Amino acid sequence: MSRGLQAVRPGIREMAGYQPGRQPAPGSRVVKLNTNESPLPPSPAVAAAIRSELGDSEGLRRYPDPISQKLRETAAAVFGCEAAWVMAGNGSDEILRIVIDTFVSEGETIGYFHPSYSLYPVLAAIRGARGRALPLFNDRGELYQPELSGIKLFFLTSPNAPLGFAFELDYIRRLASGFAGIVVVDEAYADFAEHNALGLVKEFDNLVVTRTLSKSYGLAALRVGFGIASSKLVRELDKVRDSYNLDRLAQAGARAALKDSAYLARTVDLVRRERAFLAAGLEKLGFEVRPSQTNFIFTTPPPPVRAGELYQELAARGILVRWFADPLLAHGLRITVGLRPEMEALLETINAIMNGE
Ligand SMILES: Cc1ncc(COP(=O)(O)O)c(C=O)c1O
Repeated sequence: MSRGLQAVRPGIREMAGYQPGRQPAPGSRVVKLNTNESPLPPSPAVAAAIRSELGDSEGLRRYPDPISQKLRETAAAVFGCEAAWVMAGNGSDEILRIVIDTFVSEGETIGYFHPSYSLYPVLAAIRGARGRALPLFNDRGELYQPELSGIKLFFLTSPNAPLGFAFELDYIRRLASGFAGIVVVDEAYADFAEHNALGLVKEFDNLVVTRTLSKSYGLAALRVGFGIASSKLVRELDKVRDSYNLDRLAQAGARAALKDSAYLARTVDLVRRERAFLAAGLEKLGFEVRPSQTNFIFTTPPPPVRAGELYQELAARGILVRWFADPLLAHGLRITVGLRPEMEALLETINAIMNGE
């Protein structure tokens, strides 16, 4: 092994790294339903704000506001809290990493349900922490109330990805109240759900909620997310982030997006409508569909159709969905909710494949 490679920390050398969903080049003619982006572009106010911030580009010479103060204030108004309770990140992925770096020492344990967001074990490995995957369901198929002793930080994805259901607030209360560590409620999909855990941040000073503009706001490319926690925790989290973690254009664009609440409401309405259309269409084809509070659906094809093969066949016909090789998930597909023509194309193509056409 070369000297350089030998110098890599063993934990990094041994890990596989995060596997993102396929991102075809912009302009590719595919129906892209594999990474839970919005079916709509962001509010037109975003591009206007970015253009205005760019101006003649003179402003790009200077560093941006290091703490994204105006963005925190705008976000706080949306989240119903004070700006001091909000931190802004380069996507919510950055916030997830910051919470780990703030609370978890090397060798300590980070817990999460399996299945949930597959980035958590990767972040734990990067930190040199132990990852502990806990089962989501007991033998009777009921939700598990996990025992968190020995765990320093627990990630709860609510609504769950990739299964789509949201945890009840009382469940989250029980988790946080008996726990000496930190509970992070990853609410990447909460705008599509019927309830969320933001209000619990005031009840529990060991709770951090994360949010993103990548899904409901149609801004995955801008990389903006938030952490919401007590101001005391936010002060600590702030010590750990990169000094200029959000660029100037992202700060301006994100503020404009957050201010256009009518646009968000229309997007969420559309996604919920198309989600119902997709679910009904899949059920008509004999698929089992899990109820979803997100902008995606986890669904299992009827036998003898195999999800992995259906995924391959759809990809060959220009429709990208997500299939996980994980044994707990390999029976199903995760499909992002898209526009009506995309949903119709998907359903027609599945029908054709199932009829051997
Ligand atoms: C559960 C969950 N959390 C966080 C993220 C990352 O969001 P962001 O784009 O803000 O980094 C995703 C993206 O797929 C996700 O599914």
